Amino acid sequence: MKKRDLIDIRDFTEDEIYRILEKAKFFKFQRKKGNIPSDTLKGNCIGLLFRKPSSRTRVSFEVAIIELGGSPIFLESSHLQISRGETIQDTAKIFNLYLKGLVIRTFEQSEVETFAKYFDYPVINALTDFSHPCQILADFFTIWEIKKSFNDIVITYIGDANNICNTLILAADILGVRINVSAPEQYSVSDKIINSMKNPELLKVSKDPYAFIHNSSVIYTDTWVSMGDDAEKKQRFEIFKPYQVNSQLLEKAPHDFLFMHCLPAHRGQEVTDEVIDGKNSVVLQQAENRLHIQKAILWFLYEIKGQKEV
Ligand code: CP
Ligand code: NVA
Repeated sequence: MKKRDLIDIRDFTEDEIYRILEKAKFFKFQRKKGNIPSDTLKGNCIGLLFRKPSSRTRVSFEVAIIELGGSPIFLESSHLQISRGETIQDTAKIFNLYLKGLVIRTFEQSEVETFAKYFDYPVINALTDFSHPCQILADFFTIWEIKKSFNDIVITYIGDANNICNTLILAADILGVRINVSAPEQYSVSDKIINSMKNPELLKVSKDPYAFIHNSSVIYTDTWVSMGDDAEKKQRFEIFKPYQVNSQLLEKAPHDFLFMHCLPAHRGQEVTDEVIDGKNSVVLQQAENRLHIQKAILWFLYEIKGQKEV
């Protein structure tokens, strides 16, 4: 059987995403009852190779792997020989001898793709500069749990059209969900994303932070300075100031909108305390759902689609 990876959210079809959401719901229900019955990963060691910091993704994957019967091995990239020039291709071929899966957080999307090409077992993108599919699956799971379906959902993303925004748009495109982006022109949605959409009519873009507030079911923001963007910090703080999600911006929002943020939040920058700690905020539910969705992703990649034919 051909192996499957999660490198880009478009690796999954609409039907597969729904199967993953259903399975995450099952895992969540079982865990709440105190049942953690699974041997999906029994006897398998999964490497976690991280070139950027992480709290949620790393811990939720480690717990998910353990609860599915496997063993996570955290691979600090600066301690690996790739930091001294060993190629990704050689590293992947060596990892084939020990590991049965790889979860990778790095800068370039192409690095995850190269690992997937030379590594014979599932490769999971745990965030790149381009995308963060595991986060966005957890976010759609959260919306689906609360709102019961994606019918009539309108997501508005405000701020930097970064990896989170890219993946939200691509997932919305797969699921047929309307999505708006309010971003300053120089940090707005790229043509690459717009041109790759199957249903471009689902996306509206504006540089006005107020443009879409009044009819948004979800208002989502993220940091103005992603990992790797630190050199532009000063300039970004100035440009993004009008895009802060605060009570004034939300004055015309529907009473039951959901405030979402992938976290970590920079309180007082992209969001204020009153919003992130307010009654519409579901950020903790999003973070909790990371664990259940990681399990569902692993279940899908290991039980539904096995190892690549070699
Ligand atoms: N949201 C998210 O990916 O958080 P971490 O950077 O802590 O993993
Ligand atoms: N856009 C952020 C997401 C962090 C989870 C970053 O890439 O740093």
